[in-house]
Amino acid sequence: MCGIIGYAGPRNAQEVLLDGLRRLEYRGYDSAGVAIVGSGLQVFKDKGEISKLYTSMPEIRGNLGVGHTRWATCGKPSKQNAHPFVDCTNQTAVVHNGIIENYQALRKQLTDEGHKFTSETDTEVLVHLLEKHYRGNLRAALISALKEVKGTYAVVALRTDSNEIVAARKENPLVVGLGVGENILASDVTAMLNYTQKALYVMDGETVSLTADKVTIYDRNNDVVVREPSTISWTIEDAQKGGFEHYMLKEIYEQPTAIHNSLLGSLDEIMSEGSLVDQDFGAVKLVACGTSYHASMVGKYIIEALAKIPVTVELASEYRYSPGTGENPLTVMVTQSGETADTLAAAREAKRRGCHTLAVTNVVGSTIAREVDSVFYTKAGPEIGVAATKTYSTQLMAMYLLGLRLGYLRKAMGRDEIRSLSSELRSMPQYVRGVLDRASEVDDSTDMLVEARDVFFLGRNINYPTMLEGALKLKEISYIHAEGYAAGELKHGPLALLDASTPVVAACIKDHTYEKMLSNISETAARDSPILAIGEEGDEELLAVADKLVTIPHVAPILSPVPLTVVVQLIAYYAAKKRGCPIDKPRNLAKSVTVD
Ligand code: F6R
Repeated sequence: MCGIIGYAGPRNAQEVLLDGLRRLEYRGYDSAGVAIVGSGLQVFKDKGEISKLYTSMPEIRGNLGVGHTRWATCGKPSKQNAHPFVDCTNQTAVVHNGIIENYQALRKQLTDEGHKFTSETDTEVLVHLLEKHYRGNLRAALISALKEVKGTYAVVALRTDSNEIVAARKENPLVVGLGVGENILASDVTAMLNYTQKALYVMDGETVSLTADKVTIYDRNNDVVVREPSTISWTIEDAQKGGFEHYMLKEIYEQPTAIHNSLLGSLDEIMSEGSLVDQDFGAVKLVACGTSYHASMVGKYIIEALAKIPVTVELASEYRYSPGTGENPLTVMVTQSGETADTLAAAREAKRRGCHTLAVTNVVGSTIAREVDSVFYTKAGPEIGVAATKTYSTQLMAMYLLGLRLGYLRKAMGRDEIRSLSSELRSMPQYVRGVLDRASEVDDSTDMLVEARDVFFLGRNINYPTMLEGALKLKEISYIHAEGYAAGELKHGPLALLDASTPVVAACIKDHTYEKMLSNISETAARDSPILAIGEEGDEELLAVADKLVTIPHVAPILSPVPLTVVVQLIAYYAAKKRGCPIDKPRNLAKSVTVD
């Protein structure tokens, strides 16, 4: 979603802001802009790529500035609607993430008072409110302005007659980077890694005053907040491509390490106090969106099998509006970004219902991490490609850990059983490496998909959600329409759509569904659909019915989603690459979806 960067210090602000904006690109955006205090307030913004801004901007001297990448919500993507916005006197500039819900009423009122608007956005009311309330202290003006506002925000402002940047936060991330003789504000730490590893997370209701030498955070009562800075463990290299053609491919290849890191420590502690959850919950509800929802669906099979308790999975956007059943299961919010608006709203609803909430997220200091009762961090490292890959496989690890932990607490699993599955889990990085070593086979197999208009992904049982994820990955990065289906459902309608022009990707591993899957594959072959099967090494029977076979190593069926996931990610990647798609920045998809 939108990204923010602000800088005060001795460097050329233009360079720091443009560099920060480039690092925020992965969040998804349609326009970008900067405002720099140089000789007066200089604002440059445009629709489209940040590289356009790089080439079109003259050199500006100035040491104070703010920048923004916008993902349109109120008002179409355009130069006028891009941030920053300035007031009528051209002295104040504002950038904003979030939504001002009452902006139409405010806009009317401000227009009646003589303010001139230049955009269709909700954000522009903020700069006019600042102008209205300014009496010589910008932070005080911001506090007064925000009293008139309904909605959510990370808002950052500056003026030409001061060396200060001010900011406020409500339900949108904001973090301060502490440098030596310079300070930065951003919507996420990726934008500041070049300059500092020391961060201060801003909390809801707080305001910030930031200059080159000093940062002060104030609470809702306007009292100064004393907070220890956190150390950002991500390095700049972590956030760069490292020789791969795309971030997505780099991140697919990082999965052995990401899986290892996510299990590290947590697996050893699974039978110790203080691990994940300490109570024997009688039921679990997993709540998530998109790819995280698919990880949760896999989680249902895992937790039910290991802990022998009922698990329900709900889309966050549905859960938040449902009436509730009066039961209080352990409610797990699964979200790589920790900022998804629907998942946050669902977490608040779960708390309101009195449920214990646990977040599974990849981003330390994310909003969800601060709102729930307990957190499990997936430790996948920064994921820059918009399509989730390594955060998904590490979410799967969280599901295994949770299943094992609950299984232990409920005595549904004995110590030996736990140790045996733990040791197989420890081998997962090696199995994933095995799949990656054969990436060229997957690459060849995707030729049959590249020209297709529709593709079906079929699986059964624990591998059904993995195929839903395969279909989602293919859709979002290659723009080929794909549907994931539980193979047993084919005969209830969709068989009618299968013919020689509709390829089928089918997962068929040697578990208790093997024979049924083989029959389903034969059914599709009978309709002339080209078949790309994913199965185990040496499976001659499967090879006989498939046009192409990609193999995964044999693992315990409960662990099969892990290698299978890597194959479907690679299928989507190679198909999208052959179609020349912008893989790391697919259209209409954002890394953190902060609107609902
Ligand atoms: C797909 C994708 C999205 C996200 C969804 C939820 O590759 O990335 O479907 O999974 O927007 O995001 P998080 O996990 O951040 O809550």
